[in-house]
Amino acid sequence: MDKLLIEGGFQLNGSVTASGAKNSALPILASSILLKDKLTLSNIPHLNDITTMLEILSSMGAYMTFNENMDIEVDTSLINNLKARYELVKTMRASILVLGPLLARFHEAEVALPGGCAIGSRPVNLHLDCMRKLGANIDTSNGYIKASAKGGLIGANIEFSQVTVTGTENAIMAASLAKGQTKITNAAKEPEVTDLIKCLNKMGAKIQGEDTDKLIIDGVKELSPTNYSVMPDRIEIATYLTATAMTGGEITVKAVNPNTIDKVLQKLELAGAKISKNDDSICLKMKKLPSAVNISTAPYPSFPTDMQAQFIAMNSIAEGQSEVIENVFENRFMHVQELVRMGGKIKLKGNSALIDGNLNGLTSAPVMATDLRASASLVLAGLVAKGITKVDRIYHIDRGYERIEEKLKLLGAKIDRISE
Ligand code: UD1
Repeated sequence: MDKLLIEGGFQLNGSVTASGAKNSALPILASSILLKDKLTLSNIPHLNDITTMLEILSSMGAYMTFNENMDIEVDTSLINNLKARYELVKTMRASILVLGPLLARFHEAEVALPGGCAIGSRPVNLHLDCMRKLGANIDTSNGYIKASAKGGLIGANIEFSQVTVTGTENAIMAASLAKGQTKITNAAKEPEVTDLIKCLNKMGAKIQGEDTDKLIIDGVKELSPTNYSVMPDRIEIATYLTATAMTGGEITVKAVNPNTIDKVLQKLELAGAKISKNDDSICLKMKKLPSAVNISTAPYPSFPTDMQAQFIAMNSIAEGQSEVIENVFENRFMHVQELVRMGGKIKLKGNSALIDGNLNGLTSAPVMATDLRASASLVLAGLVAKGITKVDRIYHIDRGYERIEEKLKLLGAKIDRISE
């Protein structure tokens, strides 16, 4: 199994290019099911989660090819199997994103129920409720969601009781081909939702209200082939910036959309980083130890839960005390025990972590990744810890960070992937 070996104590300097956003590429790939033709996508990152989505699509009968620019062409004209198997769904909860598009185009779908997950129970009740609102019959038995809508989905008013990102995306995709109008309130406003809306509108969907929590979707009969470039990955970008705020140094992240990570940039500035933004790049300079910053996670545009673990790592070596409150997921502190094994002074109380910055720094240890962002926080801790940190179970990190060790090496980190 692959592991990362990281020798801590080296500053990060130089420039790195952001990859395409995983959380945008996944729903956009799922949206190809809505088409009876080809969707051509660029800036799709090479990640295990993307491979899983491509495997699900091809298991249904879709064809994938790469054109001369290495763009992926997804041809879904011959889809004939409407089932997403448990073997694939269990490795990635976002597989649920095929439910809405399958129901919308074929009026039928069978998708394995995603199981539990390291960061909480993560139910799919909101996804199922909105499909029911759109007229689907849903039966969950034998570990599968079996959904059908004889005669097709029908537009409806959907009010989410809780903000859900993939739930909103499923509703948008389903409503795009439903008969009549759908109004969604309390929709997620994450930039990845907006990216999906832009792609769908380019295919001929009629979706209004992007960037807001109220969406109006007028269903259309069919969508048309198009090409689309996926937005940059704001969580990957923010992770490299936070890494540099911890190690010190000066980096430029290129090919970014700086406006999607304002909250994270504000917190990095509070921690002492000097940040400058251009149209498509961000430069961060850090000449001191970071100062501790409090954060409280919530849906966009608030501080993203996907950056919470990395900020706990930063606060572990910062000057001062801090409190990190997790409001989105119930059990997203699995990284804390591993950071404590590296010398972090962190206490958990309910949904908050109280951190006493350890100015003596962290020390290396063999540590285990438990989920995607938790693994990123352990890598960041390894970059500043004394000695060599070995991070195990890095398949979690390969789900969401493209060539992380190569990108960090480019910036001057001492990091290697080994197989043991
Ligand atoms: C997406 C992101 C993930 C991010 C999360 C929150 C993708 C592929 N993943 O996950 O990186 O951490 O948003 O920004 O885009 N909930 C329910 N019932 C449901 C659905 C959700 O109770 O049917 C709860 C969840 O348990 C959680 C909260 O709602 O407590 C928000 O989850 P949600 O926004 O749905 O997360 P994902 O879309 O799975």
